Amino acid sequence: MSMIVLASASGSPGVTTTALGLVLGWPRPALLVEADPTGGSAIAAGYLRGSVVPPEAMIELAMAQHADAVLDALPRVCQPLPGVEGKWVPGTRSHEQARSLISLWEPLGAALRSLETTGQDVIVDAGRLGLFGSPEPLLANADLALLLTRTDMVSLSGARSWAETLRERFARSGASTALGLLLVGEGQPFTAREVARVLQIPVVTTVAWDPESAAVLSHGAEPPRGGLLQRLAGRGGWEDTPLLRSYRGARSALAGRIRINEEQLQAAGGRPS
Ligand SMILES: Nc1ncnc2c1ncn2[C@@H]1O[C@H](COP(=O)(O)OP(=O)(O)OP(=O)(O)O)[C@@H](O)[C@H]1O
Ligand SMILES: [Mg+2]
Repeated sequence: MSMIVLASASGSPGVTTTALGLVLGWPRPALLVEADPTGGSAIAAGYLRGSVVPPEAMIELAMAQHADAVLDALPRVCQPLPGVEGKWVPGTRSHEQARSLISLWEPLGAALRSLETTGQDVIVDAGRLGLFGSPEPLLANADLALLLTRTDMVSLSGARSWAETLRERFARSGASTALGLLLVGEGQPFTAREVARVLQIPVVTTVAWDPESAAVLSHGAEPPRGGLLQRLAGRGGWEDTPLLRSYRGARSALAGRIRINEEQLQAAGGRPS
């Protein structure tokens, strides 16, 4: 099992959309954790178009934490994601609950890691860094912590200071290889190489700039159907969109990076504490 944590530094580069998009086609059972402390489940309101009222999952977990029972409570709060094997832990309903979450992240991280026995991977939407109640312990304990950014000047300027902080933190704990960038819309206008040079963090993977398809995941829009000629040729459907194709590439890039990290860790005698 691997825990991959996605976070942003500024703006709304597409953390929730990308986390959901990755989980929907994940090759093994996967759990999506909405750990953004902002409040209001973007998945329930957007992708699921308000069709489900999510339970107070984070509050239930926070209460279970007082009884040292986060792992037992986890299956109770996991919600099905329609049409896929993956499950989802809905985010907190209000930012005012963020205080109760601060002491949850550490035991939740341990519980998520112990899902290893069930063969599940975990993808965490950590939201924007620096918010009160931010799940930073999950980030620090991730197999792969990804800072998401778009590639324009304003986004890079907004990401620069967090990139430096994360670089220092991960270097201090001896886990630099567990930190990477995920670019949303590489080449719009800066390339992966340019962004990596500016932020001094390697680019692990990129996802395509595809607002029409992204709106299906972020706002529950109808999937694009492609033109008649494409459809006659058996192409142009939802699975064939640039966004979904790029998610497929991103999944293999993430798996590859985690595998290399694990091999290096084993060679070095285990994960640093
Ligand atoms: N690959 C993409 N191409 C184009 N637009 C995208 C892409 N991914 C996400 N978006 C769009 O970006 C907007 C913000 O996405 P999303 O809500 O996922 O961002 P976020 O980083 O989670 O923001 P917040 O910090 O506010 O939660 C949405 O309108 C979404 O459709
Ligand atoms: Mg979000």
